[in-house]
Parts: sequence; structure tokens; C-alpha cells
Amino acid sequence: MTKAVSGFSKKTKDEKIQWLADSYFASNSSAVNTLKTYWNSDAKLQQLHDDFIENTVSNFYLPFGVAPNFLINGNIYAIPMVIEESSVVAAAGNAAKFWMERGGFKTRIISTIKTGQVHLNYFGESCYLTSFFNELKPNLLQSIATIEAGMKKRGGGLIDVELLDSTNKLEGYFQLHCTFETKDAMGANFINSCLEQIAKTFEAEAQKYEAFEVENTFPEVVMSILSNYVPECLVRAEVQCEVHQLSNNGVDGKTFAEKFVRAVQIAEAETRRAVTHNKGIMNGIDAVVIATGNDFRAVEAGVHAFAAKTGKYTSLTHAKIEDGVFTFWIEIPLALGTVGGLTNLHPLVRFAFDLLQRPNAKELMQLVAVAGLAQNFAALRSLVTTGIQKGHMKMHLMNILNSFNASEKQKQHAVSFFKDKTVSVTAVKDFLNL
Ligand code: MEV
Repeated sequence: MTKAVSGFSKKTKDEKIQWLADSYFASNSSAVNTLKTYWNSDAKLQQLHDDFIENTVSNFYLPFGVAPNFLINGNIYAIPMVIEESSVVAAAGNAAKFWMERGGFKTRIISTIKTGQVHLNYFGESCYLTSFFNELKPNLLQSIATIEAGMKKRGGGLIDVELLDSTNKLEGYFQLHCTFETKDAMGANFINSCLEQIAKTFEAEAQKYEAFEVENTFPEVVMSILSNYVPECLVRAEVQCEVHQLSNNGVDGKTFAEKFVRAVQIAEAETRRAVTHNKGIMNGIDAVVIATGNDFRAVEAGVHAFAAKTGKYTSLTHAKIEDGVFTFWIEIPLALGTVGGLTNLHPLVRFAFDLLQRPNAKELMQLVAVAGLAQNFAALRSLVTTGIQKGHMKMHLMNILNSFNASEKQKQHAVSFFKDKTVSVTAVKDFLNL
């Protein structure tokens, strides 16, 4: 069994790799080579990536693709997508083309508020806590003046702080619930810095408050942290056209639209389907979120909580046919940044922003929502017509061929051979005479 290591983070990169090779790969040099193959030859660029996290030993490549022809609010975009799943970029491109011919995507921001909480314990009379908070509130706001200065100049900052009595959820549980506008920053660092200062001021002043002293019961800060649940940071994207315009692949528009709406209704009604339906939406969303250097874990957590906001997990998209008009839309919470974090550091993220014509955070929210809606449209379009596997396996063909080490010539032949045939691992094996 491998021994635990102490001071691993203090070792040099080469020492770390050697330790891994000795401990887990019987000192095999091919493991070391695998890591080093993915090092960048530009030492400065490699150092930049090394510095993103602790204990970097290599880089992990994911494909950076582009889905062009997205007509959004009258402008045409090529959307950058970072994802490993074979069919996602192709599906986005197909949906973009389909809607380009039918009026494109329309989007709008519903709201851009983020929140964070100082979570408190208090087991005394709640009226004392309320009086203390009301007296202290101007001080709390003042205490973050320095932290807030830059954000305020950009038109953002703390909007309000409220005391919430959450004892119906948990005995002795109160919150300082803070609302923020963070403009083009995702705002996590800003919000957390504000919250920690508010918590400090709150706790220090509480020690001096007479009513708490008399009762000998003081409020105590448990923790201070932003919330990744952002139902007030909401964007809407939709597509709309007359039902007859939806005729495609030999299916008439009415039949297609009715089956499509039914598929959405099933995702609204049935959690097992809703999770897969929403996973398909996140294929598009995460890919753009990653390409633009944003925090996809935060987005995922917030989006799924939103999908369950009524207490039942349901579809993030909705569809209807009214007076012969088909409408398909998504409303989704997205806390994204176009400044700060990796946005100005990672060269490919900078490229992604340039490609998108340097959007601000509100514009990025709209582009990302479109990527999710388009992805869901493409998935449902396949599901209610040809089935998903035809397109999926076609795109997966290259991975199967690569897994059998097929030559470039064999790959070329395979692509034309499988044009009108079903792709499967066995069929590809037969094709390669393996
Ligand atoms: C696969 O990554 C995503 C789908 O399963 C989504 C869906 O079923 O709607 C195709």
C-alpha cells in the first residue's frame, strides 16, 4: 500500500510527478510521459496554468468548439463551447441553423440580484435581536464602505440587509440576508468579503449590547457565504414561429409541434424525464459557461435548485401552441461574470469573449440561456422524430474508430460507409475487420 505523503504541495512539480510515478506506477516512465506530453512548450503559459490551482502536474484538454449562426435579438453569433460529448456542438449548430431560418432567438433579462447570508445562532428573545439589528443596520452598511467602493463606482454594491427569523426551519436560526448587484462580476469574492465584514461588525457590536448582556444570551455567527441559489438573477430566451413553418425531415409542422409540446409536458410532469431533459439543457449551458471561464458548478447547483423551486423537480423549458403559433422558452437563473476570475487570465477565455464581441454579464446570460434552449430543442427534435441515437452515434463514430486506432484513411472510408448505416461498436469492428 502507498504511504501517505507529507508536504506534497511544497515539492517541485517534477518531484510531485516522480512521487506519483514511484508510488502508483511502479516508477514507470510512461506515466510521467503522459503527464508531460500535455505540458505547454511555452513556459510562461504553462506557469499561468500551474498557478490556477495547487499541485498542478499537467493540463487536461477538452475540445474547444464553435457553434456558428446563432441569430439572437437580430445579431449573429458564433458561440464557443467546451465539452467532451461528441454530439453537443453539432446539435447546437443544427438548432441555430433551424431557428436562423425562422426568426432566431429572442432574449431578455428579468433580474440580476444575487444574495448572501450571515447565518446566526440566537436562542434569546427575538425582540432583542430585532431591536439590535435595527439600531445596528446603518453601521453594518457603513462597515463595508471600503470593500464596496469600486463596485459602487460601477453601479453595483450591497442593496439591502435584512434580519430573517428562520426559527421555523431550525431552532435558534436567524440570518442576515443580504442582496447585491454585482454588475459584470460574478461577484463571489465581493459578496463573501462584504458578508465577512458585516459578520465581524455584527458580532463585535453584539458583545456590547446591553439587552444581550442582561440576558447573557448573545447572537453568534455560524458562517458567512454567498448563495449559489440565484432565482432573482434570471434570464429568458425564446423561439417562436407559426406551426406550419416547423415542417422538417418529412414531418408536417402540426404533427411535429404537437409531439414536441407533449415531450416538454412529459418533462414538466415526470421527474425521471425532467432530469434527463434538463441534463440536455446543461450540455449547452455548461459548455459556454466553461468556455467563458465561469463557475459551472455554481451554475449547475443554482439551476437544479431552481428546477425544484416548487418542491417538485421539473422541466426548465416550456412550450405551447396558441392560435397556430409555436412558442418554446426557458427561464433560467445564471450568475455569470465577464470580468474577474479567469476571464482576463486564460487566453482561450479571452478568445471566447472576443468571439462573442465582448459581452457584458447581462449579454452573456442571454447567450448562455440561448445555448441551453437550442440544445434542448435539438434533443427534443431528434427524440420525437428519428430518435437520439442516429445523430449521437454518427458523431460518436470518430471516438469508436480512435479507440480501435483506425488510420486516417480508414476513418475517411468509415465516415462514408456509415452515412446510411447504423453505427455501433460491433459494426465498426466488423468494418475494420477486427
Ligand atoms: C444527452 O447528453 C442529452 C439527452 O439525453 C437530452 C434529452 O434526453 O433531452 C439527449
